[in-house]
Amino acid sequence: MVTLRQWHPRWTAVFLLLALLCCLFAPVVSVKHDNFKTCDQSGFCKRNRQFADDASASSSWMSPYTLDPASVSFKNGQLDAVVLKTLKEGEEKVRLPLTITFLDSGVARVTLDEEKRAKGDVTLRHDSQARKERYNEAGNWALVGGLKPAAGAALNSEAEQGYTKVVYGKASKHQAIIRHAPFGIEFQRDGETQVKFNERGFMNVEHWRPKAEKPKEEEKKEGEEETKEEDKKSEEQGEDESTWWEETFGGNTDSKPRGPEAIALDITFPGYAHVFGIPEHATSLSLKTTRGGDNAYTEPYRLYNADVFEYEMDSPMTLYGAIPFMQAHRKGSTVGVFWLNAAETWIDVTKKRNTANPLALGVEGHTDTQTHWMSESGILDIFVFLGPKPQDLTRQYGELTGYTAMPQSFAIAYHQCRWNYVTDEDVKDVDRRFDKFNIPYDVIWLDIEYTHEKKYFTWDPLTFVNPDKMQKQLDKRERKLVAIIDPHIKNTNDYPIIDELKKKDLAVKNKDGNQYEGWCWPGSSMWIDCFNPAAIDWWKGLFKYDRFKGTAHNTFIWNDMNEPSVFNGPETTMPKDNLHHGNWEHRDVHNINGMTFHNATYQAITERKKGEVRRPFVLTRAFYSGSQRSAAMWTGDNLAEWTHLEASIPMVLNQGISGFPFAGADVGGFFGNPSKELLTRWYQAGIYYPFFRGHAHIDTRRREPYVAGSPYTEIITQALRLRYQLLPAWYTAFHEASTTGAPIIRPNFYIHPEDENGFAVDDQLYIGSTGLLAKPVTKEGADSVSVYIADDQPYYDYFDYTTYSGAGHHTIPAPLEKTPLLMQGGHVIPRRDRPRRSSGLMKYDPFTLVVVLDKDGNAAGTLYVDDGETFDYQMGAFIHRRFSFDGARQALTSSNLETGQRTVKCEKYLKTMEKVRVEKIIIVGAPKAWKDKSEVVVMQEGEKESQRRKPMPMEYYPADGKKAAYVVVRDPRIYITKGWKIDFGEKGAGHEHHGHEH
Ligand code: NOJ
Repeated sequence: MVTLRQWHPRWTAVFLLLALLCCLFAPVVSVKHDNFKTCDQSGFCKRNRQFADDASASSSWMSPYTLDPASVSFKNGQLDAVVLKTLKEGEEKVRLPLTITFLDSGVARVTLDEEKRAKGDVTLRHDSQARKERYNEAGNWALVGGLKPAAGAALNSEAEQGYTKVVYGKASKHQAIIRHAPFGIEFQRDGETQVKFNERGFMNVEHWRPKAEKPKEEEKKEGEEETKEEDKKSEEQGEDESTWWEETFGGNTDSKPRGPEAIALDITFPGYAHVFGIPEHATSLSLKTTRGGDNAYTEPYRLYNADVFEYEMDSPMTLYGAIPFMQAHRKGSTVGVFWLNAAETWIDVTKKRNTANPLALGVEGHTDTQTHWMSESGILDIFVFLGPKPQDLTRQYGELTGYTAMPQSFAIAYHQCRWNYVTDEDVKDVDRRFDKFNIPYDVIWLDIEYTHEKKYFTWDPLTFVNPDKMQKQLDKRERKLVAIIDPHIKNTNDYPIIDELKKKDLAVKNKDGNQYEGWCWPGSSMWIDCFNPAAIDWWKGLFKYDRFKGTAHNTFIWNDMNEPSVFNGPETTMPKDNLHHGNWEHRDVHNINGMTFHNATYQAITERKKGEVRRPFVLTRAFYSGSQRSAAMWTGDNLAEWTHLEASIPMVLNQGISGFPFAGADVGGFFGNPSKELLTRWYQAGIYYPFFRGHAHIDTRRREPYVAGSPYTEIITQALRLRYQLLPAWYTAFHEASTTGAPIIRPNFYIHPEDENGFAVDDQLYIGSTGLLAKPVTKEGADSVSVYIADDQPYYDYFDYTTYSGAGHHTIPAPLEKTPLLMQGGHVIPRRDRPRRSSGLMKYDPFTLVVVLDKDGNAAGTLYVDDGETFDYQMGAFIHRRFSFDGARQALTSSNLETGQRTVKCEKYLKTMEKVRVEKIIIVGAPKAWKDKSEVVVMQEGEKESQRRKPMPMEYYPADGKKAAYVVVRDPRIYITKGWKIDFGEKGAGHEHHGHEH
């Protein structure tokens, strides 16, 4: 032992040097790459990339797939045929049944199965109980509609030899040209090819084959020689068999009882330079290429839901959720594919630049985006969308997988979370402090520590002594509680839930058919198998108020770790050879697993108590196509770093265009302690996440908005108030998402699909259809931001009406206290201006309408309101208005967008809202001609001519430098449930000037 006396200065130097080196080389928190596979370490990905490389390298390459023309039949919008895979000369061909269904919506669905496996005509290794078929049930979980075949789709008899053609889509604008040999499909719109399958010949269906077992003795005797011989054979055939029958990674061995069974296909988007989608990755909105080159990735985008600890930025690595929906965009057209497969999937993206032909004058060069999709198992099942608008894609994808559920209104307000609020007193204290500082919030969250020893559905008896009382306090201000419930159930004595799970046999099984046991927060655990309807039924029972004691109508649920996260499992998840209900291997269903769990929770919350029907709220970390129907998501464990704040914007935007818009990131960053500046900027950005929650890791310091102190607390409060002020606009955007599939926050390309310069812009966002354009500050020390404007409309600063016009970049001041927010001319923005402590308390508050005139002096917008709580809106109990300002008539009108018969529920609801006024109207960009005007004439539906009102005052504020002129009308005594008209032209104003003054 070295004592202090012996300590020599030389040692000090060595020590200091070591410490310095440690600092230099200590990993700045970052993902453990070794825990997750690269493509090269994932057998089927490596094989398929190699397959693609071989195909590309050889000039004589011929894809071994052909369609047998004699097998083609066409009936009721569906083509059936058989694709044959040629093995070696003389060997029997592999039969792959093909269907192409042409749907009423104009979408085409292509499926390809493998006959031998489908018939069960195969043997599995290791006496496996797994199913023999390729997994074909992903659609049962992901799809809810849009599958009606098109009556008008027809075989085109004029097809040349070697092709089968089908005409389909609205006005027969679409055409599928199916090439027989080698098999491939081109999808055309208006005679122009938009999407190509197997153009490059990367299609690969790994057919079933028995393992050629060598007698052990022989192996031993011939030893090395034999192996070499084998290797040579494989090389000749160009096939790497090393991962066909078994695969080991990180000490876990996958027994692969069905052998190699991957499916892969190349899909090309000719003329499309941008592709978006396939969340979840921490990457840019416009996807990068993945096979090297400048600023490109070397790994394919991976979709394999995983608990990626301290994930890294700018990476195609997999994260917690998967939506295999990709859209390609170019000027004038958006098309896409939805690859319905729940197994591990990798997607390579490359771009091919076709330079202009110097001899063909006027023919411009263009870029094709080429993609290569590879899934480990399952059938091939692809939907092809031909647009032509981004809105068509989100709508059609939503028809198939469902639109986002309309949440309760509290759910779109602010959520306060941390791991953990440690006692019920702590919760009440935080609640009181928010009030003390006049900071609005709606929901407080409990992470895993509230439970008794990580046993879900229990409360820690020492720290959460009186949950009822705690929730009563929250309820006083209409606030809610969200408690976490994960899918792993503690495997211990004295816990009735695990006893039931075991007894009822509802857990996921291991490959031998026994209940699978793994490690998670509680230690030894088992996982509920929500693929099993009996498990869902059981789960529903657990949430009843008399079962989950201490919960109330204002308790909602957070489902975490549902990838599933298994601490001692391969890649922190379940072994692929585990078995689910119906004996499907985990391999087949992995990416859907999390969705089955949060779906079950959603159902459970709906049925908590007979007669009490409120919209559930469930937050999920893992997700798949269709998750939007029953949950919100967040981007998992980010870091309190500026780069993570920055990355959250494209990530949430990508969720929006991929059909799952109720999304957000942990405000403040989960790991680490943000500086006060970062925290403030994160709140200012977080108010633009559809799902808006502050959250922090257990090892971090407290950071509720009131902790930071002046001026940060005040600035954060202002940001929160801005979110609350705009809740009517957000709610309207949610309504639009829930009825049309449109994103809640929208990227530039979605709003301006013709603006090529803006296709890759992903650091600013539009809120719904409001024209509100936000540009969050994501750089330390910034005092201005550059906002990209795509069109020639005037854009006004939200706070002081400074005008920015002209396409291009504009520098906007952004001192710490400011969140740059612009209003695009042409919209009417609904707000509620009275600051309250929770959104529930704003229910009957009056509205303010901000009318933002476009360059021609017009504006329009909508407002959707309902009770924010029940399902009565589905029976007509809502208000849906359109406000429009007509520049020619100089009048603002409110008209009803719901023209159908009023239901009893509707009447009843309108009655509760009948006193809710529009208390203020602001017209931004007011015509100069109004400068001498002081009155407007107001008329409201139901008032007789004889009751004609006296003109009401209006205030005109002239333009001031770059600040636009505006008008304010205060309390015009009009109601939100009524039709009305405000005439700005009747008295005093010149009718001759209708335009905009800038
Ligand atoms: C992981 C989640 O991502 C995080 O948000 C949560 O706090 C911890 N699990 C503990 O439950």
